[in-house]
Amino acid sequence: MMRTRPLKVALLGCGVVGSEVARIMTTHADDLTQRIGAPVELAGVAVRRPSKVREGIDPALITTDATALLKRGDIDIAIEVIGGIEPARTLITTAFEQGISVVSANKALLAQDGAALHAAAEQAGLDLYYEAAVAGAIPLIRPLRESLAGDKINRVMGIVNGTTNFILDKMDSTGAGYQEALDEATALGYAEADPTADVEGYDAAAKAAILTGIAFHTRVRLDDVYREGMTEVSAADFASAKRMGCTIKLLAILERAADGESVTARVHPAMIPLSHPLASVREAYNAVFVEAEAAGRLMFYGPGAGGAPTASAVLGDLVAVARNKLAEATGPGESAYTQLPVSPMGDVVTRYHISLDVADKPGVLAQVATTFAEHGVSIDTVRQQGRPDGVGKEASLVVVTHRAADAALSGTVEALRKLDTVRGVASIMRVEGE
Ligand code: NDP
Ligand code: HSE
Repeated sequence: MMRTRPLKVALLGCGVVGSEVARIMTTHADDLTQRIGAPVELAGVAVRRPSKVREGIDPALITTDATALLKRGDIDIAIEVIGGIEPARTLITTAFEQGISVVSANKALLAQDGAALHAAAEQAGLDLYYEAAVAGAIPLIRPLRESLAGDKINRVMGIVNGTTNFILDKMDSTGAGYQEALDEATALGYAEADPTADVEGYDAAAKAAILTGIAFHTRVRLDDVYREGMTEVSAADFASAKRMGCTIKLLAILERAADGESVTARVHPAMIPLSHPLASVREAYNAVFVEAEAAGRLMFYGPGAGGAPTASAVLGDLVAVARNKLAEATGPGESAYTQLPVSPMGDVVTRYHISLDVADKPGVLAQVATTFAEHGVSIDTVRQQGRPDGVGKEASLVVVTHRAADAALSGTVEALRKLDTVRGVASIMRVEGE
């Protein structure tokens, strides 16, 4: 039976994502009513700059006092799309204190304080949904939390940041410069308020922390995730990757150890073969592979950033939370019963592409090979090339290894740096997806 009294929604933030949420709530109001079983009404919109013109939004709804909006007594659901830690954290906590369920797109906050927020929601008997926090429009959190709840996930690997994928794709396919590509991604609304979060890998690491927790039923914070950004990736790296039949992507890789007793979570640029499905993920698209014991390999793919795609995920959560409200129920909360420790990056085993500048003289290759051998790192291929400028008789040496522990590779690189014949380590990149 249709309820006529509307569920009242407070929209906290009305920027790239929030403005699209408001637009869809208005234009799809009738369909949302039918799907939920009651109308949802935009009851207030909290922003920082009240005088900004906001198309399609009744100015009477705008306020700069988000707390007062939550405390006015008639709000059922709050949508937090402000971003960052504060005031978002305090506002979400205030919402729970007021009996208001929350939908959020805020991965930074969830990666830092997800456990406390889940506990607050559970204690209050309310929902905390955040499908939009990971991989934009792609349904990923709900499939992991619900559809795969009966299976055992062993590995998740994917591209979870749209901005950096956009930049790397432009650098690779058009030869665009880093700054030019970043400016374009920012203008398209993909980047975070501070794009350092994107390019230094913090945004992907936050998403990795959230996904690791959900996939392995444990609790992982941002600091537990090994992180390297993509600002050091150069045109030379792309050229080297091309010679190997690879491209470069910023990957999030989450793994359960073979003995099942620990997990690893990491974000870093990596070379992947052009034949790998992730290599063809272009622009701001995201894609995530999930390997589960019974289901096998699943791939989730779609727009990973941008106002409308992200609003789609927020609206999906809004419908779910609204239905729960009407049913006087809540959806699944946090599942962290395994309490698996997160192993250090040194334990991760993978392949490496190392580019060295070395003296171009007899015996150097043998010296470098011995250094790898002494640290237990087996070499797969070596390519030496005299530098065209011939400066100081230097050569470029590219070594690709077999699988080795990250700690062994770090030891090797440290020792290589100490060799007189090694003038510099130009780049170290992991090779994945083979
Ligand atoms: P924007 O910077 O575009 O929007 C932020 C909004 O929050 C603005 O409307 C701003 O007001 C408002 N705001 C800022 N501070 C306050 C405050 N103290 N009180 C009330 N309102 C405030 O961010 P996005 O829309 O891009 O992102 C929002 C969230 O969604 C973030 O958590 C982000 O990580 C996440 N997200 C973003 C995606 C994207 O593609 N953009 C994709 C997936 C998730 P004003 O308009 O007046 O400046
Ligand atoms: N800045 C983020 C990205 C937004 O580029 O992926 C989507 O979470």
